Amino acid sequence: MTGFKPGDEVFGICDASFAQYVRVRTDKLAPKPADLSFDQAAAVPVSGLTAIQAVRDQGRVRAGQKVVIVGASGGVGTFAVQIAKAYGAEVTAVCSTSKVEAVRALGADHVIDYTRADFADGRHRYDVILDIGGNRRLSHLRRTLTPTGRLVIVGGETDGRWLGGTDRQLRALVLSPFIGQKLGTFISSENAEDLEALRGLIESGKVSPAVDRTYPLDEVAAAIRYMLEGRTCGKLVITI
Ligand SMILES: NC(=O)c1ccc[n+]([C@@H]2O[C@H](COP(=O)([O-])OP(=O)(O)OC[C@H]3O[C@@H](n4cnc5c(N)ncnc54)[C@H](OP(=O)(O)O)[C@@H]3O)[C@@H](O)[C@H]2O)c1
Repeated sequence: MTGFKPGDEVFGICDASFAQYVRVRTDKLAPKPADLSFDQAAAVPVSGLTAIQAVRDQGRVRAGQKVVIVGASGGVGTFAVQIAKAYGAEVTAVCSTSKVEAVRALGADHVIDYTRADFADGRHRYDVILDIGGNRRLSHLRRTLTPTGRLVIVGGETDGRWLGGTDRQLRALVLSPFIGQKLGTFISSENAEDLEALRGLIESGKVSPAVDRTYPLDEVAAAIRYMLEGRTCGKLVITI
């Protein structure tokens, strides 16, 4: 019993998905959001699941809270901005100059260009920080949180020699039980229930995948090169 029948339109997660045919576990699938094309739907699962779990479960974002999303222009960040808005937060998004307008168009209340201003200069405090890019020091992030605020470390760009770049996460987890602030990190869970939650947000018009470009399957290498150049705003999609 899978809950699906031949011909159903679905979206989800599987390994080796740069391919025409794939084998997928049904507990990592959900019905495709009605108004999305397959190209758009393909952009949702990995980043969307990470974003909803960061905002809802780790950040526990509630209406009226001030949330700052660092790395708002990326795959995860473009979803996180929209999901935090859907949960009623006042969202400050942090990204680079060329992506400011695109991130504002996602619905962010404030956008900070990190090449021109420092979101962590201590002048503003936030209830929740989603730290998706930039690898700011823990002390800088902590001075930007309210005394009982939550820091959610989603990712970063370093390759630490000993700990593969996870030393910040480990220090956050060790420190958190001894202070008023909650500092944490997580590994996203691939599950159908949260794909359904994303489908609900998309079908209600609150969330829309930000697809920067699409590439045909035989141009995957060009897509990866473009991504590595750091120019992508949102997601790249490989089409079949
Ligand atoms: N915890 C999990 O389960 C999980 C799941 C998925 C991904 N991740 C991790 O999350 C991170 C982001 O993934 P992604 O797919 O969103 O990557 P992405 O699309 O490449 O986005 C990276 C983001 O980081 C921003 N950034 C880069 N340098 C920055 C700086 N100095 N200050 C502030 N922001 C900066 C980029 O902003 P600009 O482009 O505007 O410079 C961009 O918004 C990665 O480290 C990934 O491994 C974790």
